[in-house]
Amino acid sequence: MIKKIENDGGTYFLLQNDSLAYLMRVRGGKLEQLHFGRPIAQEDCAALTYPPNLGWGGSTLYEENDPSSCMDTVPLAWSGSGFGDYRESPVELQVEGKPLASDFVLKDAAISDGIIPISSGLPGATGGSETLVVRMAYRGVSGLQLRLYFSLYPTALTRRAVLVNETAKSVVVTKLMSVLLDLPGDFEITTFDGGWIAEAHAHKTAVSRQRVVNESTAGFSSSRHNPGFLLTRPNTTEFHGEAYGFNLIYSGNHYASAQTSQQNLTRVMQGISPDHFAWEVKSGDCFETPEAVLCWSDKGCNGLSRKMHRFVNENIIPHAWQYENRPVVFNNWEGCMFGFSESKLLFLARRAKRLGCELFVLDDGWFGQRNSDRAGLGDYSVNRKKLPDGLEGLSRKIHNLGMDFGLWFEPEAVNPDSELYRAHPDWALHTDGVPDLYGRHELLLDLTKSEVRDYIVDSVSNILDSADIQYVKWDMNRQSPLLGAEAHAYIVGLCDVLRRIFGPRPEILLESCSSGGNRFDLGMLCFFPQIWTSDDTDPIERLDIQQGLSYLYPQSTMSAHIAAAPHAQTLRKTPLSTRANVAFFGVLGLELDLSHLLPVEETELASQIQFYKAHRETFQFGEFCRNDAEKGAVCWQVAGDRKSVVGLFHRLVPAAPGYEWLRVGGLHGAKCYRVTCCPQLLRVGEFGRLIGHISPVPIDPNGVVLRTADHRYKMADAAQSFTASGDALMSGVPINQRFTGTGYDKRLRMQGDFGSNLYLIEEEPV
Ligand code: GLA
Repeated sequence: MIKKIENDGGTYFLLQNDSLAYLMRVRGGKLEQLHFGRPIAQEDCAALTYPPNLGWGGSTLYEENDPSSCMDTVPLAWSGSGFGDYRESPVELQVEGKPLASDFVLKDAAISDGIIPISSGLPGATGGSETLVVRMAYRGVSGLQLRLYFSLYPTALTRRAVLVNETAKSVVVTKLMSVLLDLPGDFEITTFDGGWIAEAHAHKTAVSRQRVVNESTAGFSSSRHNPGFLLTRPNTTEFHGEAYGFNLIYSGNHYASAQTSQQNLTRVMQGISPDHFAWEVKSGDCFETPEAVLCWSDKGCNGLSRKMHRFVNENIIPHAWQYENRPVVFNNWEGCMFGFSESKLLFLARRAKRLGCELFVLDDGWFGQRNSDRAGLGDYSVNRKKLPDGLEGLSRKIHNLGMDFGLWFEPEAVNPDSELYRAHPDWALHTDGVPDLYGRHELLLDLTKSEVRDYIVDSVSNILDSADIQYVKWDMNRQSPLLGAEAHAYIVGLCDVLRRIFGPRPEILLESCSSGGNRFDLGMLCFFPQIWTSDDTDPIERLDIQQGLSYLYPQSTMSAHIAAAPHAQTLRKTPLSTRANVAFFGVLGLELDLSHLLPVEETELASQIQFYKAHRETFQFGEFCRNDAEKGAVCWQVAGDRKSVVGLFHRLVPAAPGYEWLRVGGLHGAKCYRVTCCPQLLRVGEFGRLIGHISPVPIDPNGVVLRTADHRYKMADAAQSFTASGDALMSGVPINQRFTGTGYDKRLRMQGDFGSNLYLIEEEPV
C-alpha cells in the first residue's frame, strides 16, 4: 500500500507492505527520509519525525527565519546542490558549459496501481503493486522538472529518477543517481569485488566520514565491482540484525557511495557512474536513470538474501522462466575448446546423455574461420568442415539422442580477421586518433548504430530459425572502449537487440556470459534467467564466488559446471565429490572431456546427476542459507518442501581435526527428521602406498592391481544416517569424525584437502 497522509506534522508518504516500510515527509518542498525498514503503523508518522532542528553553527539556512531549515543536517530522500546541503549530491547539471545548481522542490505527487514502465529502452522490474511519482520543479529555471518514481514489490522497493527538460535550452546531465537516502546510524558496507576467474569476493568495511565508493568504469557492470552491495549494522550476523540490500537493474558503468555525516546520518546513493558522463537532454526531451532496488531485513544477511532472491525470481527473471526447472547441461568448451568435429561432438553427446545430461551446448568455434580466438568473430555462417550437415543436421542428431540443443554466440564483438570487419571496419568501435585497443583480439561492435543492431538481429535470428535450438549462451569477452554517456548508449542499444531477437522467442532458455561473471547483474537477468557465473570452475574458488553472489542473487541464476581436475584455472586437484557438491548449489552442468573418464568416475557422475535431478527444485529454487560452521569451513543449505540439503565444505585439512557439528536452519523444532550423509566417490588410488596399511597382502602403489582397483571400485566414505528433532538439528548435532591419521574406517569422513559432504534432511512422516 502507498498512502499520502496529511496531519499536524505536514504531508507524509508511506509505502508499506508485510516486508518493509518507507516513510517520507514533505518539508519546505524537500523530501525528508524518515524511515526505511521494519513495517510501522500509520500513527508512527509523528514519532518518526525528527525534532525541530535548533541549528548547528556555521550552517546555511534554506529559509532565513527558520533555524530548522538547515538542509545540511536533515535526513533526505533526495538532494541536489545550491540549497545548503553540502553532502554528496545525486544530481549534477550544466547549461551552456556552466554548472547549474539543482534545487528541486515538490510540485505534486500521484499514486497509481502497478508499475510505470521505463521508456528509455532499459529493462525494469515487473509485477510491482503500486507506484508513487513525485514531481519536483526546479526553483531557479522554470520548465526543468525532476520525477522520482517509487514502486512497491512484495519483498523490495525500487526507485528511479527522470529529468524532464521543458526549457528552451539543452541541459547536460553529468550525474543523475537513481536513488538517494539518508539512513540513521552506523553501518558496515559489503561489496562484491574481483576480476576474471575471481568474481564477487565479499569485502566488508566500516562506513565512516570518508566516502566509500563502489563503482565500475569498465563500460559494463564488471567483475571488478558488482553493482549490488549490502549495508549492515556493526552487530549484524548471517542470522540476526538489520541488513539493507541495494542493487541496480543495469549492465553499464555504475556508481554507489556511502558516507556518514556529522549528524550520524549515512548518505547512500546509487546510479549510473558519473565518470566522464555527459548526456545532453535537448529541449522537450528527458533522461531516465535505471531502476535501483532497495531491500531490508532484520533477520540478518540470510533474511535479506531470501527477500532479494524472491525479488529476482519473481520480479526480474523473464516470465516464461520464472521458477521453471533448468536442464542439466553438457557444454563442450572446456573439453574441446576450438578443436572438434561433428563425430567428436556426437560421441560426447552420447556419453553426456548416458550420464543424465539433458541439454547439449555447442560453445565457441562453430562458425566462420573461428579456429582460435584470433579470427572469425562476427561471421555467423556455419563452418562446414567441422559440421558437414550444418547446425540443422547436428541439432537433429542431438535431438535423436534425446537431448535438447543449445548454441554459443558472441554477437557484440568482431575479430579484425573476419569477413564482417573487412566489409564494415566502421561498424567496430574505434577511438578517434588513437590506435585500437584489443581485448582477446577483438573489438566491440558499435551498438549505438542502427545498421549494426540490424545486422546482429538478422544474423542471430537466421541462425536460430535454421536449426532446432532450445538454448543460447550469449557471450561478450572484452571491456568497453566507451566512456560515460556513450557507454550508456551502448547498453540501451544492446537491450534493443536482445528484445528484438528474443522477444518473439520466449521459449529459448538464455544464459548470459561475459568472460564468466563480468556482467552478473540485474540488467542482464531481465533478459537471461541464468548467467555463466565464472570461467573458474574450480570448486574451491567457486565457494567464494558463489557465496559472494548468493547474498543478492538466487541459485537459479548461477550456472555451475563440474569440470576436470587438475583445474585449468588453478591447477588444483579436487575430488569429484566436491566438484559436484559445489556445482549442485546452482544450475548444474558438465564441462569436461568425457572421453577420459574412468569407469568409477562415470558411475559417480551418473549418480551425482541423478541426485541433483531428484532434488533439482530444492537446489535451484529452495531457500538458500549460509549456515554457521567451524572455522575455515563453508556450510550452505537449500530448503524445499519438507526437505533440505546441506553442503559442508573444507579447504585445507588440519592434522587431527576436532569435532564438527551439523547446523541446519529453518526446521520445525518438534518435528523429526532423517539425516543422511550422501554416499560419494572415495578413490582407492587416493591412498597410494598407504593402502598397504589396510591390505592383507602387499600392494605395489604404482602397480597394475592398485590402478585397476582405482579405476573400477570405490571405497565407502562417511556412511552415516540418523534421526533427530528439528530443535537438535538447529542447535547443531555432532557428525562423524574426519580422518585423523589413525587409519581407515568406513564411518570416517576420509577427507584430504578440499573434502566436502552433502547431508539430506527429510521430514519424517508423523
Ligand atoms: C568465454 C566464456 C567461456 C567460453 C569462451 C569461448 O571465455 O566465458 O565460457 O564460452 O568464451 O570462447
